[in-house]
Amino acid sequence: MALLPILRYPDPRLHKIAKPVEVVDDRIRTLIHDMAETMYDAPGVGLAATQVDVHERVVVIDVSEDGNNLLALINPEIIWKSEETQVYEEGCLSVPGIYDEVQRAARIRVRTLNEKGETIEFDADGLLAVCVQHELDHLMGKVFVEYLSVLKQNRIRTRLRKQEREALKA
Ligand code: NI
Repeated sequence: MALLPILRYPDPRLHKIAKPVEVVDDRIRTLIHDMAETMYDAPGVGLAATQVDVHERVVVIDVSEDGNNLLALINPEIIWKSEETQVYEEGCLSVPGIYDEVQRAARIRVRTLNEKGETIEFDADGLLAVCVQHELDHLMGKVFVEYLSVLKQNRIRTRLRKQEREALKA
Protein backbone atom coordinates (compact mmCIF):
# COMPACT_ATOMS: atom_id res chain seq x y z
CA MET A 1 0.00 0.00 0.00
CA ALA A 2 1.19 3.48 -0.78
CA LEU A 3 -0.07 7.04 -0.67
CA LEU A 4 0.03 8.53 -4.16
CA PRO A 5 0.74 12.21 -4.91
CA ILE A 6 -2.40 14.01 -6.15
CA LEU A 7 -2.07 16.37 -9.14
CA ARG A 8 -3.33 19.87 -8.46
CA TYR A 9 -5.29 22.07 -10.82
CA PRO A 10 -4.19 23.73 -13.12
CA ASP A 11 -1.70 20.90 -13.81
CA PRO A 12 -2.08 20.12 -17.55
CA ARG A 13 -1.90 16.36 -16.83
CA LEU A 14 -5.41 16.65 -15.34
CA HIS A 15 -6.66 17.19 -18.90
CA LYS A 16 -5.30 13.91 -20.34
CA ILE A 17 -7.92 11.42 -21.50
CA ALA A 18 -7.73 8.04 -19.72
CA LYS A 19 -7.50 4.82 -21.73
CA PRO A 20 -9.67 1.78 -20.99
CA VAL A 21 -8.13 -0.90 -18.76
CA GLU A 22 -7.33 -3.97 -20.88
CA VAL A 23 -6.95 -6.59 -18.16
CA VAL A 24 -8.18 -6.43 -14.57
CA ASP A 25 -5.10 -7.94 -12.94
CA ASP A 26 -3.04 -7.48 -9.78
CA ARG A 27 -1.49 -4.29 -11.18
CA ILE A 28 -4.98 -2.74 -11.38
CA ARG A 29 -5.98 -4.12 -7.98
CA THR A 30 -2.83 -2.61 -6.42
CA LEU A 31 -3.64 0.72 -8.11
CA ILE A 32 -7.17 0.56 -6.66
CA HIS A 33 -5.86 -0.17 -3.16
CA ASP A 34 -3.32 2.66 -3.34
CA MET A 35 -5.96 5.06 -4.72
CA ALA A 36 -8.38 4.06 -1.92
CA GLU A 37 -5.71 4.64 0.72
CA THR A 38 -4.91 8.03 -0.83
CA MET A 39 -8.60 9.00 -0.94
CA TYR A 40 -9.28 7.99 2.69
CA ASP A 41 -6.10 9.73 3.86
CA ALA A 42 -6.93 13.03 2.10
CA PRO A 43 -9.86 12.63 3.12
CA GLY A 44 -12.18 12.61 0.11
CA VAL A 45 -15.22 10.74 -1.23
CA GLY A 46 -13.84 10.01 -4.70
CA LEU A 47 -10.62 9.80 -6.67
CA ALA A 48 -9.97 9.16 -10.35
CA ALA A 49 -6.72 7.58 -11.61
CA THR A 50 -6.12 10.74 -13.68
CA GLN A 51 -5.64 12.66 -10.42
CA VAL A 52 -2.68 10.42 -9.47
CA ASP A 53 -1.22 10.72 -12.98
CA VAL A 54 -2.33 7.26 -14.14
CA HIS A 55 -4.29 7.67 -17.35
CA GLU A 56 -6.47 4.57 -17.25
CA ARG A 57 -10.21 4.34 -16.58
CA VAL A 58 -10.16 3.56 -12.84
CA VAL A 59 -12.14 5.36 -10.12
CA VAL A 60 -12.61 4.81 -6.38
CA ILE A 61 -15.58 6.22 -4.48
CA ASP A 62 -16.86 5.98 -0.93
CA VAL A 63 -19.79 8.22 -0.02
CA SER A 64 -20.69 6.27 3.14
CA GLU A 65 -20.62 8.09 6.48
CA ASP A 66 -18.23 5.61 8.08
CA GLY A 67 -15.94 5.27 5.05
CA ASN A 68 -16.45 1.52 4.90
CA ASN A 69 -18.19 1.08 1.55
CA LEU A 70 -15.50 1.29 -1.12
CA LEU A 71 -16.68 1.25 -4.70
CA ALA A 72 -14.00 0.55 -7.32
CA LEU A 73 -15.02 1.26 -10.91
CA ILE A 74 -13.00 0.00 -13.88
CA ASN A 75 -13.94 1.20 -17.38
CA PRO A 76 -17.14 2.79 -16.00
CA GLU A 77 -19.78 4.19 -18.37
CA ILE A 78 -22.94 6.15 -17.63
CA ILE A 79 -25.54 4.31 -19.72
CA TRP A 80 -28.53 6.41 -18.68
CA LYS A 81 -29.06 9.88 -17.21
CA SER A 82 -32.31 11.38 -15.92
CA GLU A 83 -33.51 14.62 -17.49
CA GLU A 84 -34.12 15.83 -13.97
CA THR A 85 -31.06 17.56 -12.57
CA GLN A 86 -29.72 18.41 -9.12
CA VAL A 87 -27.35 21.13 -7.96
CA TYR A 88 -24.65 20.16 -5.49
CA GLU A 89 -21.77 22.07 -3.95
CA GLU A 90 -18.74 20.14 -5.18
CA GLY A 91 -15.13 20.06 -4.16
CA CYS A 92 -12.15 18.13 -5.50
CA LEU A 93 -8.88 16.83 -4.03
CA SER A 94 -7.13 18.37 -7.06
CA VAL A 95 -8.67 21.79 -6.34
CA PRO A 96 -8.09 22.15 -2.58
CA GLY A 97 -10.18 24.65 -0.67
CA ILE A 98 -12.52 25.45 -3.57
CA TYR A 99 -16.22 24.53 -3.42
CA ASP A 100 -18.91 25.58 -5.86
CA GLU A 101 -22.27 24.53 -7.21
CA VAL A 102 -22.52 22.29 -10.27
CA GLN A 103 -25.71 21.09 -11.96
CA ARG A 104 -25.76 17.45 -13.06
CA ALA A 105 -28.23 14.65 -13.75
CA ALA A 106 -30.13 13.69 -10.58
CA ARG A 107 -30.15 9.96 -11.35
CA ILE A 108 -27.88 7.78 -13.45
CA ARG A 109 -27.33 4.15 -14.38
CA VAL A 110 -23.72 2.95 -14.46
CA ARG A 111 -22.15 -0.06 -16.18
CA THR A 112 -18.66 -0.96 -14.97
CA LEU A 113 -16.20 -3.73 -14.23
CA ASN A 114 -15.49 -4.51 -10.58
CA GLU A 115 -12.17 -5.60 -9.03
CA LYS A 116 -12.81 -9.19 -10.13
CA GLY A 117 -13.28 -8.06 -13.74
CA GLU A 118 -17.03 -8.79 -13.66
CA THR A 119 -19.49 -6.45 -15.40
CA ILE A 120 -21.99 -4.93 -13.00
CA GLU A 121 -24.70 -2.28 -13.32
CA PHE A 122 -26.12 -0.03 -10.63
CA ASP A 123 -28.37 3.00 -10.25
CA ALA A 124 -27.26 6.06 -8.35
CA ASP A 125 -28.86 9.23 -7.07
CA GLY A 126 -27.96 11.95 -4.54
CA LEU A 127 -24.30 12.30 -3.61
CA LEU A 128 -23.31 9.01 -5.28
CA ALA A 129 -24.70 10.24 -8.63
CA VAL A 130 -22.79 13.51 -8.22
CA CYS A 131 -19.61 11.69 -7.34
CA VAL A 132 -19.74 9.20 -10.24
CA GLN A 133 -20.35 12.01 -12.75
CA HIS A 134 -17.55 14.13 -11.22
CA GLU A 135 -15.04 11.24 -11.30
CA LEU A 136 -15.96 10.14 -14.83
CA ASP A 137 -15.36 13.72 -15.95
CA HIS A 138 -11.81 13.41 -14.55
CA LEU A 139 -11.23 10.36 -16.80
CA MET A 140 -12.20 12.58 -19.75
CA GLY A 141 -9.73 15.25 -18.63
CA LYS A 142 -12.38 17.53 -17.18
CA VAL A 143 -12.17 19.20 -13.77
CA PHE A 144 -15.39 20.46 -12.09
CA VAL A 145 -14.25 24.09 -12.14
CA GLU A 146 -14.68 24.00 -15.94
CA TYR A 147 -18.46 24.16 -15.30
CA LEU A 148 -17.98 27.55 -13.59
CA SER A 149 -17.72 30.96 -15.26
CA VAL A 150 -14.41 31.89 -16.93
CA LEU A 151 -14.02 34.65 -14.35
CA LYS A 152 -14.28 32.14 -11.50
CA GLN A 153 -11.91 29.73 -13.24
CA ASN A 154 -9.29 32.48 -13.59
CA ARG A 155 -9.65 33.41 -9.92
CA ILE A 156 -9.28 29.77 -8.86
CA ARG A 157 -6.15 29.31 -11.01
CA THR A 158 -4.58 32.46 -9.55
CA ARG A 159 -5.41 31.40 -5.99
CA LEU A 160 -4.04 27.86 -6.41
CA ARG A 161 -0.84 29.05 -8.13
CA LYS A 162 -0.29 31.47 -5.23
CA GLN A 163 -0.88 28.66 -2.69
CA GLU A 164 1.67 26.52 -4.51
CA ARG A 165 4.30 29.30 -4.52
CA GLU A 166 3.79 29.86 -0.81
CA ALA A 167 4.06 26.13 -0.13
CA LEU A 168 7.38 26.05 -2.00
CA LYS A 169 8.73 28.98 0.02
CA ALA A 170 7.74 27.43 3.35
NI1 NI B 1 -12.30 15.69 -8.40
